[in-house]
Amino acid sequence: MADVASFGWPTDQRTGLVGKDPGLRCKEATVHRILPAPPEEIDTDDAYRAVRLPVGDRPWVLVNMIESADGAIEVGGVSGPLGSAGDKDVFSTMRMIPDVILVGAGTAIAEDYGPTSTSVSTRTRRLGHGAWPTARVAVVSNSLSFDLASRLFSGGGIRPIVITSHASDSERRTHVEAVADVILAGEQQVDLEVGLVEIAKLGARVVLSEGGPSLNAGLFTADLVDELCVSLSPMVVGGPSRRILHGPELSGTANLTLAHVLTEDHFLFLRYLVER
Ligand SMILES: NC(=O)c1ccc[n+]([C@@H]2O[C@H](COP(=O)([O-])OP(=O)(O)OC[C@H]3O[C@@H](n4cnc5c(N)ncnc54)[C@H](OP(=O)(O)O)[C@@H]3O)[C@@H](O)[C@H]2O)c1
Repeated sequence: MADVASFGWPTDQRTGLVGKDPGLRCKEATVHRILPAPPEEIDTDDAYRAVRLPVGDRPWVLVNMIESADGAIEVGGVSGPLGSAGDKDVFSTMRMIPDVILVGAGTAIAEDYGPTSTSVSTRTRRLGHGAWPTARVAVVSNSLSFDLASRLFSGGGIRPIVITSHASDSERRTHVEAVADVILAGEQQVDLEVGLVEIAKLGARVVLSEGGPSLNAGLFTADLVDELCVSLSPMVVGGPSRRILHGPELSGTANLTLAHVLTEDHFLFLRYLVER
């Protein structure tokens, strides 16, 4: 096993333990790769750069979530308290990869989603991953009950996408169409596979799902996930939080292959590929 102190975490001279005291924490986030060997400090863009090809007529689907050591995905209704500087680095790196960021309406509202970055540095990094210069956000919703005056729909930037079913309220849909491109997929609920195929028709090759747990459950249930990235936060939360997936038990487990493990300040960043 590798010596964790060698990943830049300061050691308490008195106890010999790797520091958890705030005073002992790293001042700057440096992300190290533990696996595959050799362990080394790594640029996160390099760590997550990979060939991601469409699967059939839908884009490659990557899911990224953060959870605590006891499996909680939110604290007080949001995921922010689980994070760290290194996690923010990894989270923003993951956003450089996809053409479209997919999100459930619950998360878009809870996390106050806004327009994606159009800065020169973002565009350059995204082109380095082979992605569109600017990511589009696609919100999955049946109720269409989100606030159309929110940052996502009124904050400028590239026009968001809303994926909804034919059962959604047609009057409400008309209002949404004024501020977003609407994709109709499925009769009663959003058929996520149909939605992804429609996104592929726009030219998207990679989609990143940022959750939440209901959307993730739908994606795994329909066997639409190719890659799962999990940030494991070094804290125990307890309470009623759901897990990364919230929905009926899968009819068969989705088995995963570990592609890499990164670490920064006691966090682990796990990248898995879904076995098929
Ligand atoms: N730790 C993390 O990395 C992370 C990431 C994301 C979110 N979260 C947390 O997760 C919580 C939100 O969870 P959530 O389960 O409400 O989130 P969600 O999955 O983002 O949203 C659920 C909503 O999405 C829509 N939806 C999803 N699948 C659908 C389908 N197949 N057809 C039609 N509509 C569909 C529905 O919206 P309508 O009700 O509008 O029809 C549904 O109520 C928040 O606390 C957030 O902080 C954590």
